[in-house]
Amino acid sequence: MADFLAGIYLWIKALHIIAIIAWMAGMMYLPRLFVYHHQAEKGGEAEAMFVKMERRLLKGIMNPSVAIVWVLGLSMLYAAPATLSSGWFHVKLASVVAISAIHGFYAASARKFAAGERPRSEKFWRIVNEAPFILLIAVVFLAVVKPF
Ligand code: HEM
Repeated sequence: MADFLAGIYLWIKALHIIAIIAWMAGMMYLPRLFVYHHQAEKGGEAEAMFVKMERRLLKGIMNPSVAIVWVLGLSMLYAAPATLSSGWFHVKLASVVAISAIHGFYAASARKFAAGERPRSEKFWRIVNEAPFILLIAVVFLAVVKPF
């Protein structure tokens, strides 16, 4: 199995990066929807539309793509386990666990919005929107440059 994965390693890596782009698109867009959701009239048509958009973004794009990012990342680890002893990979793994935790927090918040709550504030979602992107910048430099 490891030999087979090693043979298609670059294809896996390419699919890994494609899934990351889809995941990150959702991670950037969902908090924006929460900002507009906060501005919508309670019980109004706009609120119902935001609930639908948030659910579709999570279920249709973010959840499948985060799963694919992890499965393909772990497959590359299985094919090349030496990566596990690299310093850059330890910091990368901590960063992607943090981004995955933020994903979980967004999913829990979307459920609250769907239940008619308005978790946090508009300002909070405008600020928190940047966190995954800052982590992403660090992860990409670590994964490509492998500085240590
Ligand atoms: C936001 C999340 C992630 C980003 C932005 C990211 C980014 C990247 C990039 C850009 C590469 C290509 C590096 C190169 O070829 O030079 C890569 C490779 C890799 N990623 Fe990820 N990754 C993410 C999540 C994960 C996760 C969750 C794992 C799981 C353990 C993982 C494991 C790996 C492995 C093992 C490689 C191959 C390293 C190599 O052969 O150079 N990645 N990643």
